[in-house]
Amino acid sequence: MSENEVQIVEVGPRDGLQNLKEFVDTEKKISLIKQLAESGIREIEVGGFVHPKAIPQFQDIKEMARGVLGIKGVKLMALVPNLKGAENAIESGINKIVFVFSVSRSHNMNNVKRTPEESLEELQKIKEWSSSQPDVDVRVNLATVFGCPFEGNVKNEDVFRCIEGIGKIGMSEITLCDTVGYGNPRQVEEITSTCLKEYPRIMFGVHFHNTRGLGLANNLAAYKSGIRSFDSSIGGLGGCPFAPGASGNVATEDAVFMFSEMGIETGVDIGCLLKTSQYLKEILPDVPLSSALFRAGLPVQTGSACYH
Ligand code: COA
Ligand code: ZN
Repeated sequence: MSENEVQIVEVGPRDGLQNLKEFVDTEKKISLIKQLAESGIREIEVGGFVHPKAIPQFQDIKEMARGVLGIKGVKLMALVPNLKGAENAIESGINKIVFVFSVSRSHNMNNVKRTPEESLEELQKIKEWSSSQPDVDVRVNLATVFGCPFEGNVKNEDVFRCIEGIGKIGMSEITLCDTVGYGNPRQVEEITSTCLKEYPRIMFGVHFHNTRGLGLANNLAAYKSGIRSFDSSIGGLGGCPFAPGASGNVATEDAVFMFSEMGIETGVDIGCLLKTSQYLKEILPDVPLSSALFRAGLPVQTGSACYH
């Protein structure tokens, strides 16, 4: 990826929908994912292969996965908390597994009922299993890197210990997640630049929630450190149901707008993306969408070459 290019990873169908009380029909979820792909997004997290009691929204995940398999040129990702989820995801045709665990013990216990050490053991099992599978990509979502809703501050040394553990298992992709929007740009700059310097063999991405309004500022701080992969969620939906006070991710529309306005290529057609936001609004009329760009619309006379 060139200096002037970023990868926008759409996590709305997973992070965005998991926190909603209402069940979204399978066909609507499939249509949302297809529209996101049409807008030019190349990596989409379609849902979670998790226990249906933990996240009822994904009780139809196998059917959903079947519905999106034909989409060309897109890496379909799914969140998994354990080996069982990973096996189910790959069996359903998903290309890339997103294994989640938290730096903080209490959030990990609440979310996946395991200590961080037990989650690392589970990751080791996934690594061994994936080595015998053709073409399985694994990304690790390291949660509560920038703060925890139960424990407050999370020590950087604990974050780096987890990254070392993940690296020792042989994983090459980690996304640093701010699960509840505690991070600030200075902290983001510090952690991301250390990660890029100390662990050059690992590809790092970031995943910010805009809970306290710093999502885009944190994206920019990470970009300035050298991060080039950014998670975001259409409409700014999102949040972990097992993290009190969690709310939406950085909105994809806003992230694409910011980078495009700065002349940084995202590969996403913003007009097409805004039509997808409109579709989201239609299928979820009672859910407020926090995307500022969706509310305000594109500025007039925007002639940037980055708009397709
Ligand atoms: N998908 C579906 N079912 C699963 C599963 C998975 N990934 N992992 C375990 N199960 C099933 C087991 O087969 C077992 O079923 P049974 O009772 O019919 O025999 C049951 O769940 C209990 O298994 P166990 O390993 O003891 O799971 P648990 O009760 O400790 O739950 C998780 C652990 C991780 C499966 C559960 O907490 C979970 O799905 N969490 C998801 C969290 C999440 O998605 N958070 C939001 C994203 S950050
Ligand atoms: Zn999230």
